Amino acid sequence: MAVLAGKTAFVTGGASGLGEAIARAYAAEGASVIVADIDVAGGNALAADIGARFVELDVTREESWAAAVAPIARIDVLVNNAGITTLGSVEDLTLAQFRHELDIDVLGVFMGIQAALPKMKAHGGSIINMSSLSGVKASANLCAYNAAKAAVTLMTKSCALHFAQKGYGIRCNSIHPGAIHTPIIDKVLAQSDNPEALYRSFVDVHPVGRLGKPEEIAAIAVYLASDASAFATGAEFRVDGGASI
Ligand SMILES: NC(=O)c1ccc[n+]([C@@H]2O[C@H](COP(=O)([O-])OP(=O)(O)OC[C@H]3O[C@@H](n4cnc5c(N)ncnc54)[C@H](O)[C@@H]3O)[C@@H](O)[C@H]2O)c1
Repeated sequence: MAVLAGKTAFVTGGASGLGEAIARAYAAEGASVIVADIDVAGGNALAADIGARFVELDVTREESWAAAVAPIARIDVLVNNAGITTLGSVEDLTLAQFRHELDIDVLGVFMGIQAALPKMKAHGGSIINMSSLSGVKASANLCAYNAAKAAVTLMTKSCALHFAQKGYGIRCNSIHPGAIHTPIIDKVLAQSDNPEALYRSFVDVHPVGRLGKPEEIAAIAVYLASDASAFATGAEFRVDGGASI
């Protein structure tokens, strides 16, 4: 049975990697999917492939959010997945790099929740924020990313509490993937002087001895979007091959 039949799901960063896997899984489970991304060509191609709608969205711009959600009557599921990873320690990063990371990975999530809320409040729904293993565990060379994903972890809980207290029937949870082989990993490796050593270090932090697959994150995103997770809110869903234990 299609567990997301009748639900409308809005997936940011839906053109690539984890967002793509989530959009594909949601469509396969019967949801009406809106793929939102700055990547117009990739987003349109995916939407055509899975029978979804594409909307151009820059998560860092409030007016872009307003335009993206305006034509949508109701949203049942919001996946705040768009994100970047900036490599660098507190000594290496410029203020501009740090700000850029927070703009996309933190303010983008905040604006997404604010934009979607009026489309969810009347009937309830599920908000899923893509944090990371890096939102619960620090790395010396991920100063900005750690700060951003930790902010998402606690922003999620604050929203979950607020929605519960207001009785909106909206749940808010975070997903914390370990390293999953998507284009973001290649972008991070491209920032390194020694990509092979960095890749090995990614594998080594996972007790199961491998990186994860996008479908393994999509599976938890399906659960969190579905009514099966009705009692789950404010929780951290760690899907990381044991890396956080
Ligand atoms: N891949 C991993 O190992 C991993 C691990 C933990 C968390 N995450 C998180 O998962 C999310 C998705 O990562 P991914 O691996 O699929 O990366 P990806 O680079 O494959 O995809 C990211 C998508 O976000 C889009 N995007 C970037 N900036 C945007 C903006 N301003 N507005 C709208 N869209 C924008 C990109 O165009 C792209 O389609 C990110 O939040 C990332 O931090 C990834």
